[in-house]
Amino acid sequence: MEYIEWKNDYDIGETRIDIQHRHLVSLINMFHASVSAHIEDQVLGSIMDELGMYALVHFSYEEKWMEEVGYPGLAEHKRLHIDLRQQLDKWRDKYNLRQTHRSGELYKFLHGWLMDHVLVEDLKLTDYV
Ligand SMILES: [Fe+2]
Repeated sequence: MEYIEWKNDYDIGETRIDIQHRHLVSLINMFHASVSAHIEDQVLGSIMDELGMYALVHFSYEEKWMEEVGYPGLAEHKRLHIDLRQQLDKWRDKYNLRQTHRSGELYKFLHGWLMDHVLVEDLKLTDYV
């Protein structure tokens, strides 16, 4: 497992969206740090909850912005956000129900959950800034 290192190339050029992406990365990196410090059982629930709440805030801001700039892929992008929220909820439930103690598996999911979306779908927004 490695920390996510944010690169300037990942910025889409809209300041608030870029700041929000960095905050999501820092929450996932906090997860990583808690595993390294062997304190994940104490903090993981809170990190997952905050990720869920912050993702909601971020997705709604991003969608509002896409609407304002007339992004043609808005409907599809909204569907992807719904899917991302459902995936996160599923993993959070799994964790809460103690069906997974495998933090490596959960971290791998979170890493891909955020970065696959940011680096493929959100970077398409660059042309509309
Ligand atoms: Fe997005």
